Amino acid sequence: MNMIEVRDVSMRFNMAKEKVDNLKEYFIKRVKGTLKFEEFYALKNVSLTVEKGDVYGLVGLNGSGKSTLLKIVAGVLKPTTGTAVVRGSIAPLIELGAGFDMDLTARENIYLNGAVLGLEPSFINAKFDEIVDFSELRNFLDVPLKNYSSGMVARIAFAIATVTHPDVLIADEILAVGDFLFQKKCEQRMKELMSGGTTVLIVSHSIDQIERLCNKVAWLDHGHIRMDGPVEEVCAAYKSLDGSAPSQGEA
Ligand SMILES: Nc1ncnc2c1ncn2[C@@H]1O[C@H](COP(=O)(O)OP(=O)(O)O)[C@@H](O)[C@H]1O
Ligand SMILES: [Mg+2]
Repeated sequence: MNMIEVRDVSMRFNMAKEKVDNLKEYFIKRVKGTLKFEEFYALKNVSLTVEKGDVYGLVGLNGSGKSTLLKIVAGVLKPTTGTAVVRGSIAPLIELGAGFDMDLTARENIYLNGAVLGLEPSFINAKFDEIVDFSELRNFLDVPLKNYSSGMVARIAFAIATVTHPDVLIADEILAVGDFLFQKKCEQRMKELMSGGTTVLIVSHSIDQIERLCNKVAWLDHGHIRMDGPVEEVCAAYKSLDGSAPSQGEA
């Protein structure tokens, strides 16, 4: 069964070609029609099928379109052309801090983020201790999130997103910010979810992590899929990039 189907997706961003100094100038140029944009495709004709039980990894250099693709799959961005369909419930861990209010405490944010993910307060009440225990932040529960490190925020985000046993888990570099013990714990939780039937689509800069967790991998290069298939083959090819070939800019 296909859990994620991405069909021929292209994503175009308009990038301003010239610098406009203020809003007035912007509107004048807009009305006159002299505003210049450069069209830029972050993704071009990308197709991808993730089957039930897959742990699918995305690799690629900075700016290759990985986050854009995850956002399209999560429904945060609408592709310029093409379609992306996800079957079942989805837990997106995409932008750290999205769905959180940094001025609220961790306790309040657990309810807020739960609501953003569509969870009932009664469900959060029942799962509250599990979330707090997993994130190991019980002593910091009444501290505003702005005083947390990014790793601490990631712990809470991961704990909430995975407490639901989603059909599809989407994670963008989220594990990279935590310390190694937390990364281990996240991998353990992901394995539990996977054995419970959760399908995973994950971006990681750690090829080791991709090799440990994933069965399939797609390699994105300038918005195209350069290669996809079994994890060993794709990672071996990706790792053989040596930097002497023309590379893309750091985005
Ligand atoms: N909202 C946006 N507007 C314009 N360009 C964008 C936007 N989001 C991403 N891009 C561009 O699209 C390309 C792919 O970005 P991204 O998907 O974040 O790459 P990756 O996650 O692989 O590093 C980059 O060149 C980036 O600058
Ligand atoms: Mg990214």
